[in-house]
Amino acid sequence: MPQFNENDLTAAVVKSFENTPDKRAKFLLQELVKSLHEYVRRTDLTFEEWEYAIDFLTRTGQKCTPIRQEFILLSDVMGVSMLVDAVNHREREGATQTTVLGPFYVGEHKEMPHGSDISPYNKTGDKMFVQSRVTDLKGKPLAGVPVDVWHADDDGFYDSQKADYATHGPSLRARFVTDADGRFSFRTILPCSYPIPTDGPVGDLITATQRHPMRPAHVHFLVKAEGYEPLITHVFLDGDQYLRSDVVFGVKDELVARVEPRNDAALPNGERVSGPWHLMTYEFQMKPGAGLVPRPMMAAE
Ligand code: BEZ
Ligand code: FE
Repeated sequence: MPQFNENDLTAAVVKSFENTPDKRAKFLLQELVKSLHEYVRRTDLTFEEWEYAIDFLTRTGQKCTPIRQEFILLSDVMGVSMLVDAVNHREREGATQTTVLGPFYVGEHKEMPHGSDISPYNKTGDKMFVQSRVTDLKGKPLAGVPVDVWHADDDGFYDSQKADYATHGPSLRARFVTDADGRFSFRTILPCSYPIPTDGPVGDLITATQRHPMRPAHVHFLVKAEGYEPLITHVFLDGDQYLRSDVVFGVKDELVARVEPRNDAALPNGERVSGPWHLMTYEFQMKPGAGLVPRPMMAAE
């Protein structure tokens, strides 16, 4: 009968995965066991702490729904999402920087004509016009590229977090396809900084550890050009008070854009406008390659 002490138990569990047919799965499992065992030994983990961790993970799973992903949120606040991003994008010379997908890539991103208003139900936010362009690393425009965009409103909520989601359907999210010059544009409202959802176990963690739950204001972009790495990123609004302390560690200097206050009577696409508005301008440089393109949660097939 094999007997294990705290050190040779690790070797036995690692060996138990020896026959895993998938080489990568075998490697990942064996390394996971080594790291987990090392953590338990180094911290002298108590039964109470082990039980707390099991309960915490159980509650995290129970909080998930088809439009709520508490595990992604946990990964985000623990810096794991940005670490996965970092190890997969070590070399980005000339290419736009990447950041977290986040848990609000949800539902249909309906293709809309350039210049469309993606916030038709919002009556309170400051107007913003977004103009953008997608190119390769040499600045050659990429035409026909689908770009999904989504962002929070001026109260700091995504559509899927609001009571009227069932009746309004998707808003503050859409898909635009670049024109022959790689360009696309849309109208929306100025997003604001917002707290990540704090009504679940991840919120309990943030509160118990006296961290703040805020993300700086941003717009999400997912650029899917064939023959190029999918680009998952945000454009952050310069001047936001949370740029230096994003709860999910997602800010990179190159992703911060100055959003200009304007008073002109026409938007860049010639459309008439009354009152003040803001202009966000940002270009995306795509790196040749391939990669996993995320699908929105709950999107129809
Ligand atoms: C977001 O930007 O939508 C987000 C990202 C990570 C955690 C929560 C929200
Ligand atoms: Fe966001």
